[in-house]
Amino acid sequence: MSSQYPYMTRRTFLLATGAIAATVTLSPGELLSENRRSIQRPIPSSGELLPVIGMGTWGTFDVGDDQAVRAQLTEVMQVFFENGGTLIDSSPMYGRSESVVGDLLKATGNQEAVFAATKVWTDGRQNGIDQMRQSKQRMGVEVMDLMQIHNLRDWQTHLPVLREWKQQGWCRYIGMTTSHGRNHQDLERILATEEIDFVQFTYNLEDRIAEARLLPLAADRGIATLINRPFQRGDLFRKVKGAELPDWSAELGCRTWGQYFLKFIVGNPAVTCVIPATSKVHHMKDNMDAGFGLLPDAAMRRRMIEHYDSL
Ligand SMILES: NC(=O)c1ccc[n+]([C@@H]2O[C@H](COP(=O)([O-])OP(=O)(O)OC[C@H]3O[C@@H](n4cnc5c(N)ncnc54)[C@H](OP(=O)(O)O)[C@@H]3O)[C@@H](O)[C@H]2O)c1
Repeated sequence: MSSQYPYMTRRTFLLATGAIAATVTLSPGELLSENRRSIQRPIPSSGELLPVIGMGTWGTFDVGDDQAVRAQLTEVMQVFFENGGTLIDSSPMYGRSESVVGDLLKATGNQEAVFAATKVWTDGRQNGIDQMRQSKQRMGVEVMDLMQIHNLRDWQTHLPVLREWKQQGWCRYIGMTTSHGRNHQDLERILATEEIDFVQFTYNLEDRIAEARLLPLAADRGIATLINRPFQRGDLFRKVKGAELPDWSAELGCRTWGQYFLKFIVGNPAVTCVIPATSKVHHMKDNMDAGFGLLPDAAMRRRMIEHYDSL
């Protein structure tokens, strides 16, 4: 181990490796073709393991019938599953995304492998039920793995229905979402008082508000966290445009800024899974690579922040 990197001492490496060992178990089915294993974290309410890199679909999967566009997204999805990905997050709010995900899961033969997550985004009990049934049909799954309430919309009406669905086995987990700082206080109250399996919110190098309360609260309450907008919709790449990666980030296995951004997020032990969205095959490869190898410990994550903030 080189000592020229003050933050990547032998101890740091052991801590980082230890963090992974504490969260990963290996089974033959999880061995990938290249004998690599993806980093996984348990869903606290069940112990089921989830790969730390998932996939978002806002914008990227809202496409029509253009064969070239669909062929590209088919490859994006193939690369996702080939690299150990399972969780795909969608919503009826994302236009045709749920249907396109459903079509491509079928086309790539991944209907069994997927951990399907979507949301209810409407007002009223019956509208919610109708929408959730439609989402299952569109995504082509018998049981929705995770049903979330989108941006807390009419959550007092939907939450009892989601509980009923979980009890009936029509969905396996239930959750709540928000993004970019909206509804954080309401969300905190819900996390503190309601029994839910997952919470989804924004967290990235630019927007670190969730570090103060949401992430520790979710960890305390045993609630899995899905992290949306990991690249702040691409703003992070615009900020670092033209800047070289710091040498020391290579010790974590970062070859690109995308991996730097994602490893920073999943290095936080309160994060269960991050859901970057991309329409490009090479970006999907890039993102999936962040879910292998080492993760930064607290000291390294502080250094990553300092460096990013200095740009
Ligand atoms: N309230 C909610 O429930 C809520 C709110 C926001 C988001 N979400 C979920 O979170 C997901 C992610 O958030 P997001 O889609 O808003 O934004 P994001 O993942 O932070 O950023 C997506 C942008 O990053 C680019 N990108 C992806 N990988 C890249 C890479 N390796 N290198 C360079 N550029 C890359 C993509 O462009 P390319 O296509 O060119 O790669 C796209 O423009 C959403 O898709 C959605 O599923 C949920």
